[in-house]
Amino acid sequence: MTAPGSAYKIVNVPELYADEIQRYGVEGKFVSDEDSPWVPFGDNAAIKHLAFDVRNNTFSNILWIKSPGVIGTHKHRGTVVMLCLEGSVRYLEYDWVAGPGGFIYETPGQTHTLVTDHPDGVKLFGWLNGAIEFYDEDANFLETCDVWWYINHYESYCREHGIPINKELYI
Ligand SMILES: [Fe+2]
Repeated sequence: MTAPGSAYKIVNVPELYADEIQRYGVEGKFVSDEDSPWVPFGDNAAIKHLAFDVRNNTFSNILWIKSPGVIGTHKHRGTVVMLCLEGSVRYLEYDWVAGPGGFIYETPGQTHTLVTDHPDGVKLFGWLNGAIEFYDEDANFLETCDVWWYINHYESYCREHGIPINKELYI
């Protein structure tokens, strides 16, 4: 194949398992920018929740740190994919800096401390799996953030502000 078809039309392609997909398939989702609020995360950050997958302990969001700041030391128990949308971000533990378009891949067992030095902070799209364990500056365990934490973070804010829960976020 040199290139995909270019006809500007919906094409009904053959599907051997249409019945099974009809019975067991799950609809895709769409969340527009206005469909999910910025939920405060500490004094200098906010999270726009995009997806919650309770079967796989997977969640997606945009993390916005609004000015130079830190997200404390944390350990991953799953795999994280992130893309820097605006500003810049780095980890104290590594020697790279991610700017817009920078792709970040994190794996189970990694422990690191997220920093933005950019005057406008950073916006980071993330697709995250598994628990994230946060620690204080003396390495004492603080809290586990998993899909249930993220759902609670979103729904608590919606309840407090009279915002309807958007079912499109629950994949
Ligand atoms: Fe991380």
